[in-house]
Amino acid sequence: MKIAVIGGDGTGPEVTAEAIKVLKAVADMEGFTYELTDYDLGGERYLKTGEILPANATDELTQHDAIYLGAIGHPDVAPGVLERGLLLNLRFALDQYINLRPVKLYPGVESPLAGKGPEDIDFVVVRENTEDLYAGIGGFLKKGTADEVATQSAIYTRKGCERCIRWAFEYTRQRNNPKGKRLTLVAKTNVLTFGHDLWDRTFNEIAAEYPDVEADYNHVDACCMWMVKNPEYYDVIVTTNMFGDIITDLGAMIQGGMGVAAGGNLNPDEGGTSMYEPMGGSAPKYTGQGVINPIAAISAMAMLLEHTGQPAAGAKVLAAVQSVTGTKMASQSAGKMGHSTSEVGDLVVAALA
Ligand code: IPM
Ligand code: MN
Repeated sequence: MKIAVIGGDGTGPEVTAEAIKVLKAVADMEGFTYELTDYDLGGERYLKTGEILPANATDELTQHDAIYLGAIGHPDVAPGVLERGLLLNLRFALDQYINLRPVKLYPGVESPLAGKGPEDIDFVVVRENTEDLYAGIGGFLKKGTADEVATQSAIYTRKGCERCIRWAFEYTRQRNNPKGKRLTLVAKTNVLTFGHDLWDRTFNEIAAEYPDVEADYNHVDACCMWMVKNPEYYDVIVTTNMFGDIITDLGAMIQGGMGVAAGGNLNPDEGGTSMYEPMGGSAPKYTGQGVINPIAAISAMAMLLEHTGQPAAGAKVLAAVQSVTGTKMASQSAGKMGHSTSEVGDLVVAALA
């Protein structure tokens, strides 16, 4: 398995080191080999050379079986520059059209939702990752004047929503939730009468091919309500890029915060290259202190393994993570774990055995 590693900025390299420590241990146990290639992309390189994502780097990244990304975001770089230049550009260039975000409350992790436990908070959001308001279509008229007009268009294509919805139905079928297979389309068909009409029609057409999956619909505002009130209702959610961005942060909070939430940017097509990342940012104020939580980063490695031909290894890592959160950690907050960053990595390695 050839993995490109972008440790990135701030605490990104520290949590990445723990994920790689766990990769090494599980590879030895499962008997597979891997090859890592480091890429020094991120804020430091940008400040030194002005480069964010050189064309040859994109080409090289696609030669790997997967990309592992620690974190990007640098206090001396204007907000948005690295996010657009690196993260969004990679998603588009590599056509990573699925953003996969498990919302799973691990044992021992405190959720801000009173009375809800791991059996209640266990669903997955499938977010379309290449279209919508993220397409960058728009412009200014009379910029800087009192008459200024700005437009930002949400682009939806039949191909774009169909491939995402179809993947979500397949995923729901394979996830095979014992409580029942349900895929909920989250959109806003009552107001977005063009773009989300396309999504809704496409969803219903494809649903006919999956009679074993309950095809369900929620408006996005109601979904925010239900995610807090009845998270146990959800199995898999499929949604548009912008709404998916918003509801997955809500999801991250109910599963215990940015220290535990992981995600994947997938290009599931033959030969596609996918990228896995912990959801938390670079947290520059904690850099080098050994206090940042690596659980999200290790969970992102579990996802990478699951989707890159080593599902048994991925399942082992996820089980080890849950045993560590359930029995060894005082908290999931930076500095309050009861262990250093590398000790948490060591605990996960120990739990593997
Ligand atoms: C995410 C992030 C990105 C997004 C930002 C950093 C551009 O919030 O992965 O959810 O909006 O998609
Ligand atoms: Mn986001």
